[in-house]
Amino acid sequence: MASTILVTGGTGTLGGHVVPRLLAEGHRVRVLSRHDREDIGGIEYVTADLLRPGGIDLAVEGADIVLHLAGGPKGDDEATRNLAGAASRAGVRHLVYVSVIGADRVPLSWFGTKKEAEQAVRTSGIPWTALRAAQFHDLILLLCQKTARLPVVPVPAGLRFQPVDARDVADRLVQLALGDPTGQAPDLAGPKVYELGDLIRTYLQARGTRRLLVPVPMPGKAGRAYRAGDNLSLDGTATLGERTWEDFLAERLR
Ligand SMILES: NC(=O)c1ccc[n+]([C@@H]2O[C@H](COP(=O)([O-])OP(=O)(O)OC[C@H]3O[C@@H](n4cnc5c(N)ncnc54)[C@H](OP(=O)(O)O)[C@@H]3O)[C@@H](O)[C@H]2O)c1
Repeated sequence: MASTILVTGGTGTLGGHVVPRLLAEGHRVRVLSRHDREDIGGIEYVTADLLRPGGIDLAVEGADIVLHLAGGPKGDDEATRNLAGAASRAGVRHLVYVSVIGADRVPLSWFGTKKEAEQAVRTSGIPWTALRAAQFHDLILLLCQKTARLPVVPVPAGLRFQPVDARDVADRLVQLALGDPTGQAPDLAGPKVYELGDLIRTYLQARGTRRLLVPVPMPGKAGRAYRAGDNLSLDGTATLGERTWEDFLAERLR
């Protein structure tokens, strides 16, 4: 049966893959954005800022499922509390949240806000599902593009990633959203673990560019957590995406 699904963050990288998948399954899709947009291609747009309570109640009205993908550098905890409150008042039957691997372990404030956001979902009173994903290929590409602008590229020693393709995350989230609420789902990581230096080298090679890479120490608690792999899912319980960094890079730089 067709459901009405509100997607926050439907205009973002991940949302751009999730929305067409939901439409293809025959569901009514409503996208929440901070910017006014005309309805197009079967998508209903609603304007609201999750950090400003006005407008959120209207956005969730009549939604069966809320897929919460909106996120930013700051305030994901508060945004999620505001959304969860409105979704609870509206009688939403399934709240789905995407978080990040290491939300409970990496001592950086952004990870802390993702952990708080997860808590808001768990305590919302709404049947819920949460998925922690690794860093998307798009984010790693952006990092490579930015660092490659420098003549000498500093590379934090011991920093590893397990990047996952946003399309694999979208496939999994759609499956979870359309299924019964399951609580905390197994982490979703990419198929391989890479040193940051190797990711940058593959990028430079694909671009035909040369740069000097210089290892730099990662100080403090966050450095220790990264060196210990707290941002990775290595215990064998994670679901692994299919598309590799090399596949993604070849597509993007073709
Ligand atoms: N990127 C990664 O590597 C990664 C890894 C793990 C988890 N995640 C999580 O996955 C989710 C999606 O990430 P992404 O990379 O696809 O994000 P993105 O491309 O940066 O897009 C962010 C989205 O969030 C919306 N948004 C931001 N602040 C908002 C606010 N105050 N109110 C309403 N909407 C707001 C934006 O909508 P408008 O601009 O249209 O308002 C946009 O659609 C986020 O929760 C992120 O933390 C990302």
